[in-house]
Amino acid sequence: MSSTDGAGAGIYATIVVVVIMVKLAIVVCVCRERMKNNKDGSVRPAIPFLTITIDKFLNDIEREKPIRFTDQQLRIATDNYSNLLGSGGFGAVYKGIFSNGTIVAVKVLYGSSDKRIQEQFMAEMGTLGRIHHFNLVRLYGFCFERNLIALVYEYMGNGSLDRYLFREIKALEFEKLHEIAVGTARGIAYLHEECQHRIIHYDIKPGNILLDKNFNPKVADFGLAKLCNRDNTHISMTGGRGTPGYAAPELWMPFPVTHKCDVYSFGMLLFEIIGRRRNVDTNLSESQEWFPIWVWKKYDGGELGNSKIVAEMEEKQKEMTMRMVRVALWCVQYRPELRPNMSVVVKMLEGSDEIPEPLNPFQHLIGGTFVAHPVQVSQGYTESSSIYTGSSIMVTDSSIVCATPIMHKYEIELASSRVDDSSRTH
Ligand SMILES: *[C@@H]1O[C@H](CO)[C@@H](O)[C@H](O)[C@H]1NC(C)=O
Ligand SMILES: *[C@@H]1O[C@H](CO)[C@@H](O)[C@H](O)[C@H]1NC(C)=O
Ligand SMILES: *[C@@H]1O[C@H](CO)[C@@H](O)[C@H](O)[C@H]1NC(C)=O
Ligand SMILES: *[C@@H]1O[C@H](CO)[C@@H](O)[C@H](O)[C@H]1NC(C)=O
Ligand SMILES: *[C@@H]1O[C@H](CO)[C@@H](O)[C@H](O)[C@H]1NC(C)=O
Repeated sequence: MSSTDGAGAGIYATIVVVVIMVKLAIVVCVCRERMKNNKDGSVRPAIPFLTITIDKFLNDIEREKPIRFTDQQLRIATDNYSNLLGSGGFGAVYKGIFSNGTIVAVKVLYGSSDKRIQEQFMAEMGTLGRIHHFNLVRLYGFCFERNLIALVYEYMGNGSLDRYLFREIKALEFEKLHEIAVGTARGIAYLHEECQHRIIHYDIKPGNILLDKNFNPKVADFGLAKLCNRDNTHISMTGGRGTPGYAAPELWMPFPVTHKCDVYSFGMLLFEIIGRRRNVDTNLSESQEWFPIWVWKKYDGGELGNSKIVAEMEEKQKEMTMRMVRVALWCVQYRPELRPNMSVVVKMLEGSDEIPEPLNPFQHLIGGTFVAHPVQVSQGYTESSSIYTGSSIMVTDSSIVCATPIMHKYEIELASSRVDDSSRTH
């Protein structure tokens, strides 16, 4: 044996000691973990080679995807559906609390054999179930059983945006409303531009923007999302997709439908935030009846700065409002290709992008006759006149158009003037 062997034995002994210490440490960890598990009575299997950190990490990962709940679990969580939060044609939403303290909203869809209910369920699961974003409502899980189809969402303590725009007057500061607009735009931008498959929401409106306890906005209700085939240029809208007053013109005309229909709806929502009123309010005088046109006329005439919506504001708020007005006017452009995409909308609202002077979005409405657009856009609409004739039939049939008298008036004018226009050119 040489002296190097002696040194080797020393190192070997050190390694043995270290290994024993590590093993002891692991045993201590596992025991602690077991004791913890026993204390709260849970039956989580103790896997010896997992440390607490990685264990928690893997549980968190597992939690990311929607959980399948049983009818009974949801009945317990909602205390036998005793706390109704709201209801609509689709079903009802109940408040629920899981035993770990997580508060949820359980949306029960009525009529499990109904094809439309199943479609709505699949639309929500297929879109919201796969994605996460701070400005989209979180889908925790679902129940799909013979007697119960339900979706389980994170609970949004402060309800929907329409409550604060149209009812509880001045509950929210102007700056907060601006933040809500920006957050909502971020959520939609994510759907359009950052998901693996583009998601079109199709029903952006204040009632579908929920607010958490800090008034952070989260886009909700994906029941119509992705149901319309994006590649389909002629969608049959007889079922009335979207909501009157927010649905883009191409949704009830035989024009190609793209994600830009959400941009239009967001623009209409933005007008309602600016005015803190519904865009259609039959209680107001004729000239103010449809708010977006009223805003355009004031803006175009350079009178918006003196109008009642900004008159009492500080300089900074005035500037913010003018920015929101310009963005809204761009978003509701009649031609989808003139509307900005949502990431640009976010930047313009935040003030980091310059906003060009908006074009008149209502050129086809004001004066009652269709006027050619001042900007030549390369891929203009070139459908044959027979499609335009078809459009007037479609518009007459559509349930969307008849919903509000004023929209009815404008849309019929629009449809007939476009028919005239196209028959003149062909
Ligand atoms: C739950 O409510 C239903 C209908 O209201 C009732 O028939 C049932 O007995 C209730 N179940 C429990 C456990 O309270
Ligand atoms: C609470 O329990 C629910 C249902 O089991 C689960 O989805 C949720 O992730 C849990 N939350 C926490 C913070 O553990
Ligand atoms: C918003 O939610 C918070 C937390 O739940 C609550 O304290 C507050 O009263 C709510 N505000 C309104 C205006 O409902
Ligand atoms: C119009 O006024 C009536 C009566 O004052 C009121 O009940 C109704 O809610 C108002 N409509 C709108 C859209 O504000
Ligand atoms: C959004 O529009 C801007 C300006 O037209 C363009 O540069 C950008 O590439 C677009 N982004 C997406 C994701 O389409």
